Amino acid sequence: MYKKDFIDTNDFTREELLDMIGLSLEIKKAIKAGYYPPLMKDMNLAMIFQQSSTRTRVSFETAMSQLGGHAQYLGPGMIQLGGHETIGDTGKVLSHLVDVVMARVIDHKTIVELANACSVPVLNGMSDYNHPTQEIGDMCTIFENLPRGKKPEECKVVFVGDGTQVCASLGFITTKLGMHFVHYGPKSNQLNEEHKAILEANCKLSGGTWEVTDDRSSVRGADFIYTDVWYGLYENETPKEERVRVFHDYQVNRDLMQLGNIGCKFMHCLPATRGEDVTDEVADSASSLCWEEAGNRLTAMRGLLVYFTRCRKGYSELQIAAAKEELDAFLAERIYCR
Ligand code: CP
Repeated sequence: MYKKDFIDTNDFTREELLDMIGLSLEIKKAIKAGYYPPLMKDMNLAMIFQQSSTRTRVSFETAMSQLGGHAQYLGPGMIQLGGHETIGDTGKVLSHLVDVVMARVIDHKTIVELANACSVPVLNGMSDYNHPTQEIGDMCTIFENLPRGKKPEECKVVFVGDGTQVCASLGFITTKLGMHFVHYGPKSNQLNEEHKAILEANCKLSGGTWEVTDDRSSVRGADFIYTDVWYGLYENETPKEERVRVFHDYQVNRDLMQLGNIGCKFMHCLPATRGEDVTDEVADSASSLCWEEAGNRLTAMRGLLVYFTRCRKGYSELQIAAAKEELDAFLAERIYCR
């Protein structure tokens, strides 16, 4: 069944997710060879941001430009959303003005409400629940850096630290694809029962495995070690000092990396707080994929924009020629055109 929006990777089958990843990598290959396919030609993307962003904003905007379209940045406080105009009304209005909408929201309910109101596709640029565009990019990075001789479903991916929306999303997509996922984090900040039920359901279908634990030995045998920041995501979180104390033992440093398999790679959605969630030594090492991973945000955005607008109305050459003729005839009779 065709789905209009990209709100949660769990709305999609393994095959659909592989299709999105495959399309993203094919477009990347074409562009690397010098061909920029005009797959978003004349289309407009509205980008709503309730929070600041570097990677998500720049990758969406660049993707639209490279594929022949245009993106409009609607940052915090720049549009009526959040004032007296409702999310629903904003969605209805944007559907008459642009071809596709992306939104980074604070509350996940906002993106669901926006998608329900929009007749055009809505892509989730991160909410407090998940970060699905990040995960398509991360899978592109993992697929391009598989350990020699291993298939994705033979890989172990360990997320270290806070059970953030990136941690949840990584768990969702890896288990959907039949991989082996571990969240190694302090008991107070682990993925919750709702997350665990999703991981379990995914693994039942895919043959993958999952574990949520504070046992450091769970990192052994990792092919990919992933982390995220410890604080700074939301205004209502516990004080920074308290969070640094809770996550202190979960820093990704050389000792932790050595628990992984030989050739184990480091990943981070970024931004990183160097010296806290990751050491400089690891972030800048030959094992670090985090810069390549940031580049694959662009890979994913191109693929996702094309995937979710592929059912757009197609116009025949004949239809375009007839429209041009009618407009030319109208203008030819007008004084202001002479
Ligand atoms: N990883 C990520 O989403 O980065 P930004 O917050 O800079 O978009």
